Amino acid sequence: MTNEEDARIANSIRASMRGDCYLTAKPSTCKTLTEVYEFFNRTFGTPGSVYYPGCDLDITPIASFPSSKVILLDINKKAVEALKRNGIEAIEGDARAYRPKDLHDLLILLNSGIKSKDATPALKIGGYVISNDWHGNTTQLLECPHEFDFKGILGKKDGLLDLMSDQRSRQVLAKTNPFFNLYAFFQKIQ
Ligand SMILES: C[S@@+](CC[C@H](N)C(=O)[O-])C[C@H]1O[C@@H](n2cnc3c(N)ncnc32)[C@H](O)[C@@H]1O
Repeated sequence: MTNEEDARIANSIRASMRGDCYLTAKPSTCKTLTEVYEFFNRTFGTPGSVYYPGCDLDITPIASFPSSKVILLDINKKAVEALKRNGIEAIEGDARAYRPKDLHDLLILLNSGIKSKDATPALKIGGYVISNDWHGNTTQLLECPHEFDFKGILGKKDGLLDLMSDQRSRQVLAKTNPFFNLYAFFQKIQ
């Protein structure tokens, strides 16, 4: 990471921590993510525990993994207070410092501004990551092939969600703007 990238991430944290919108905002779920998580459950099995750092007010994992222990964590006090006001359990904390005793089965890294290497210590070996590339999480994981086995990018085959082949996934990633949501799946192997 360059200093410029660090500054951009710090700016995004500060921007997120300012707004008063959290006083009235409601937690929400996302239809696309619901489909992504349904695919995960079907393909890799229901995770025992799910860790979602940088959740903000997105509670889709709570609905999609009803029998899993879901840890929502955000550094933004206002977001965490809004979740709690609405009856959702969440931790106010910094993903860079969150090191649970019991490691998680699934890590969600979507638009978080958290570097992958700062969140993956909380994932057990054999556990999975779902990431996008808004803040480079997918790129960072692809740079560590000995630690993270790339399972592919989610696409559609015959109208159904499926993982693209490794080659096709890399082609699509290379030619697609990183700010377009491509969901990448990895397994931690070391
Ligand atoms: C752009 S929002 C993304 C929210 C949600 N993941 C989504 O996709 O809609 C980024 C969130 O990450 C949080 N965040 C940034 N750095 C963090 C850190 N080091 N630890 C925990 N949360 C962090 C911010 O407070 C913010 O709520």
